Amino acid sequence: MSTERRVAIVTGASRGIGRAIAKRLARDGRLVVGMARSLDTLTSLRDEIVSAGGQADIIACDVGDTAALAAAIEGVAEKHGRLDILVNNAGITRDGLILRMSDEDFDAVLNVNLRSVFVACRSASRPMMRQKFGRIVNIGSVSGITGNAGQANYAAAKAGVIGLTKTIAKELGPKGVTANVIAPGFIETDMTANLAQMIKDQVVPQIPARRVGQGEDIAEAVSYVSSDGAGYLTGQVIAVDGGLSM
Ligand code: NAI
Repeated sequence: MSTERRVAIVTGASRGIGRAIAKRLARDGRLVVGMARSLDTLTSLRDEIVSAGGQADIIACDVGDTAALAAAIEGVAEKHGRLDILVNNAGITRDGLILRMSDEDFDAVLNVNLRSVFVACRSASRPMMRQKFGRIVNIGSVSGITGNAGQANYAAAKAGVIGLTKTIAKELGPKGVTANVIAPGFIETDMTANLAQMIKDQVVPQIPARRVGQGEDIAEAVSYVSSDGAGYLTGQVIAVDGGLSM
């Protein structure tokens, strides 16, 4: 391990899975840069990390504005002198059956869930290649592996993230940069909060672990995949879903 503190960016860090990941990486000793659309939602994250003895920085950035995202990522590498870990977690849903899905809903989801991941990876690849070290962790979804009725846009974007990540793994592997997808199953966050209780009741019996997941379950996997010791793990899609997608 280098003697310098590893610098990690987590997008969509204000709540849910991203917040759990940011807190976990800070506990792992990383300097965590949390990104979300507004600073209001990030200050409490920074305070929590700092009061637990960690190091954190926060940046307001809408990942759907890809020019701003590229500038933000390049700015982090410049400010901190390095960029070791990139976790592309920010994501949205605009669910609906394909018959009724508008072009706007398709484009919005592709823009936030796939295009932003491409742009962030491209911006991070230069400092990571220069350092001959990098860990790219893209948050996919089981929907991107199996498909999911009502999520044509979301499943297409998350499947795209898999192809993108495998390509990055091949291109950057020789430079010491790994790229993997963590594909969550059913995780209890704001994103799933408005699903009917009936659906949740139907899903849980199908999960071998017999429970919905928590952000911490995903953070645990991200912690390992982004560690120095995980240098031989690349181009993989790791479903963290209690066994749901088997
Ligand atoms: P959430 O809705 O609770 O949080 C999403 C985060 O992304 C928030 O911090 C939000 O501010 C941020 N975000 C959304 N759009 C943004 C934008 N344009 N610019 C910057 N930040 C933006 O969602 P959750 O559940 O924590 O999801 C996190 C990731 O995990 C997403 O990529 C999602 O697709 C994925 N996922 C979640 C599952 C679940 O069951 N909750 C299942 C599979 C994947």
